Amino acid sequence: MQIGYYQFNPEFGAKDANLGKIIKAIGVIDCDLLVCPELCTTGYQFDSHSEVESLSESIPDGPTCRTLMQTARETGKGIICGIAEKDGSHYYNSAIFAGPEGYIGRYRKIHLFDEETLWFQSGNERLRVYSFQGALVGIMICFDWIFPEAARSLALLGAEVICHPANLILPYCQDAMITRAVENRVYIVTANRWGAEERGNRSRLQFT
Ligand code: ACM
Repeated sequence: MQIGYYQFNPEFGAKDANLGKIIKAIGVIDCDLLVCPELCTTGYQFDSHSEVESLSESIPDGPTCRTLMQTARETGKGIICGIAEKDGSHYYNSAIFAGPEGYIGRYRKIHLFDEETLWFQSGNERLRVYSFQGALVGIMICFDWIFPEAARSLALLGAEVICHPANLILPYCQDAMITRAVENRVYIVTANRWGAEERGNRSRLQFT
């Protein structure tokens, strides 16, 4: 299996434009599975609950997931992509896993970083692995990296590959993931966004 990653600079709130970039990327990147960054259809730095409400969608029935599933079907490729999820009155920093046959699964980020706790609930579902084209694939999201138990739990579940959508702010993860891969004997694909966000009166975030 060949895994690709697409790192880009999502524009906050511009879901259609961001999704358009992802669809274009999956069309041209030579891979069986494409990993995209965390919250990459919405942008990262929310400034109000109303923004979270208006930009979050249900998984797998929301329009973003439906578009990603259709893209996976049309291209014959898998895609793992970070989106803001709405489930009733709860909001999660999630990733969807779609494949050519449709919806495969989702992961709700367990270890929220800093102001994410203002907007999202911690993931309330277990880490899981999914069988995809002969490999066992696990998902974790960004700050999960700092807790060795996240990657370890996926490895103990049999993960051979960990896909890791990210919006990295601290500078250590890029090195730490090499250790996570070695200590767990897994391949890891971290797809990080780039650029910066500075919204409302909030501190500027420079993604590493
Ligand atoms: C992070 O978890 N996005 C730093």
